[in-house]
Amino acid sequence: MSASREAEEPILEIVGGQPLSGRVSVSGAKNSALVLLAATVLCSGECRLRNVPSLVDVVRMGQVLESLGLKTRCLGDVWEIDARHLNRAEAPYELVSQLRASFFAIGALLARMGEARFPLPGGCAIGARPVELHVRGLQAMGADVRIDGGIVFASIRGKSRLQGARIYLDYPSVGATETLMMAAALAEGETTIENAAREPEIVDLANFCNAMGAKIRGAGTDTVTIEGVPQLHSTDYSVMPDRIEAGTFLVAAAATQSDLLVGPVLPDSVVATLAKLEAIGLRTDVDAGNYIRVRPGAALMATDIETLPFPGFPTDMQAQFMALLTLCEGSSAVTETVFENRLRHVAELNRMGANIRVKDRVAIVKGVPFLSGAPVTASDLRAGAALVVAGLAARGKTSIRGLHHLDRGYENIEAKLRGIGANVQRINSSAETALPLGAS
Ligand code: UD1
Repeated sequence: MSASREAEEPILEIVGGQPLSGRVSVSGAKNSALVLLAATVLCSGECRLRNVPSLVDVVRMGQVLESLGLKTRCLGDVWEIDARHLNRAEAPYELVSQLRASFFAIGALLARMGEARFPLPGGCAIGARPVELHVRGLQAMGADVRIDGGIVFASIRGKSRLQGARIYLDYPSVGATETLMMAAALAEGETTIENAAREPEIVDLANFCNAMGAKIRGAGTDTVTIEGVPQLHSTDYSVMPDRIEAGTFLVAAAATQSDLLVGPVLPDSVVATLAKLEAIGLRTDVDAGNYIRVRPGAALMATDIETLPFPGFPTDMQAQFMALLTLCEGSSAVTETVFENRLRHVAELNRMGANIRVKDRVAIVKGVPFLSGAPVTASDLRAGAALVVAGLAARGKTSIRGLHHLDRGYENIEAKLRGIGANVQRINSSAETALPLGAS
């Protein structure tokens, strides 16, 4: 990066150490919106998606759809997608390399067009992120898949549709479950995905596909059954609230000893995060409108965390929760089991006065009485969120760089934080930033 470019880089300045208050609204789920947009490829008509968050990654997914011939229109948080004009089976490298989730559209594209060519999404800041589970599942459905020159070439040879199959996933991969559900929605016959991911976004995808006329049962359990139908029709659907954004605000409230209302949120989608907040000594209640109230407890106590597929503790909350654990009395062990390189926020938290040691995939966090503001850099999306949590709790000023990561997953973050009393501002927010690789 050139010196002048560096000077232009936007920075989030947080003057921390003061409690938050009031209520903060949670946007539509990034990970759900991305996969629902991919699933519009399956539709033979037009779809309207509501509650779509305004995020860099969502815009990129729109560009991927446009590159396939779909027409998209965005009016605030409502997206209209006309999939009648689907006419290309090839997604461009420049887009897929920036947004890993766009690869998940390969199943829908293959089912609809009979062929699909997608660049391998490659690794990213948090790990290698292979796609062999997606590929093997498509092969089980009769697709011919080969990888050549970094491109995945998939086609349905000799038949007009993919064929229903029984698929066992070696690991309950979210993306593979979604890719295969979309492919199976238009396949001939019944597909069963065993050891499927159970994340709430899988349920949202099934509900959206079913609203288009698909026949999907068992989403949210480890066995998903899809009875293929010849085509899907138009629908109007609202994206579920973002459980990770909600969790980030809840953790920020905990770290600042605040009384805060966060919502809307599907209570079942944040069970693990709420359980761990209670374990460290906070009180949480869910009201009738699906807002969660978090209230300060007497003292914050250490607790251990191990990231796992849903309903286990989400890897996408690990960094933010670790920022909170730096202020909990005692020693907490944080074990990252989902991704191999997802502890890069540790060094930055330590710059702020935290006491964390890492051995392999385990971080031992020894609680300290306070954090101190410092200049820090986000290495990926959730690492950036962890630094925001730490900055809100820390004494003095924290300046966070690497905001392009944060902007991939948090809609309007500084306005939302200011709305609940945080002293936050973005300096040089108009400056152009390098486009990052989609990390989660
Ligand atoms: C999704 C989420 C991401 C979240 C992750 C785990 C989206 C857009 N992203 O990512 O925010 O952190 O789930 O909850 O929804 N794996 C393989 N082979 C495969 C596929 C995955 O080995 O073919 C491994 C991955 O390398 C990783 C683990 O499985 O170690 C989990 O990955 P997966 O569940 O697929 O995550 P994503 O769907 O990419």
